[in-house]
Amino acid sequence: MKAEPMATATEQSLLFSPLVLDGALLRNRVVRSGCFEGMSQGGAVTESLIEHHRGVASGGVGMTTLSYCSVSEDGRAFSHELWMSPAILEGLSQFTQAVHTEGAAASIQLGHCGFFASPSVIGRRPLGASPKSCLFRLSYCREMTALDIEQKVDGFSVYYDEETKEVLDACTVDFVETPYGSGLVVNNPNASGSCGSCGGGCH
Ligand SMILES: Cc1cc2nc3c(=O)[nH]c(=O)nc-3n(C[C@H](O)[C@H](O)[C@H](O)COP(=O)(O)O)c2cc1C
Repeated sequence: MKAEPMATATEQSLLFSPLVLDGALLRNRVVRSGCFEGMSQGGAVTESLIEHHRGVASGGVGMTTLSYCSVSEDGRAFSHELWMSPAILEGLSQFTQAVHTEGAAASIQLGHCGFFASPSVIGRRPLGASPKSCLFRLSYCREMTALDIEQKVDGFSVYYDEETKEVLDACTVDFVETPYGSGLVVNNPNASGSCGSCGGGCH
């Protein structure tokens, strides 16, 4: 009787099995995390930035992440950082195409560094949750107004479908303090279960 060939460790491994992540198919579960490339001189999606991620993708990862990109121009810590302006959309599209051509999924890390923004890069005092100094910058930030907060939240707007909208609309987010710790808790009244780690209703 002919022996069955033994499955290789790669074939057996969950790490190397495909995953559907919020609709995106990843060929495996290896993700290159956000790791500042320092390749966005002048705030542009440069050729070297695209080639860097093309190389990571051709190496076989499931997904590669374009590191910190500010949601607005006042969230930049360095001049060679990206911020979400119409000027970079063409470059982002080229980045995505290059990564997809190599068979990987593309992601981007969006954020706002608040009081850590560089006054010389953004041309004014950075925004912060409360007025405080930044020892790294030797700067003093301005406390955010209610309008500032609204505008920053808008900066993170994402597209989601109607079904998701209904779930999100019903959710509330609270900051909860207990004798065991504190943090943000998402309360989803439509939840049928919880993963047990995020502290909220997530199913
Ligand atoms: C040079 C360098 C730059 C990094 N830049 C970012 C970044 O832009 N955003 C982020 O979330 N994490 C950043 N990180 C953290 C990495 O994504 C990662 O979480 C960290 O290196 C731990 O993973 P490791 O043990 O595999 O190195 C950076 C790490 C390094 C070493």
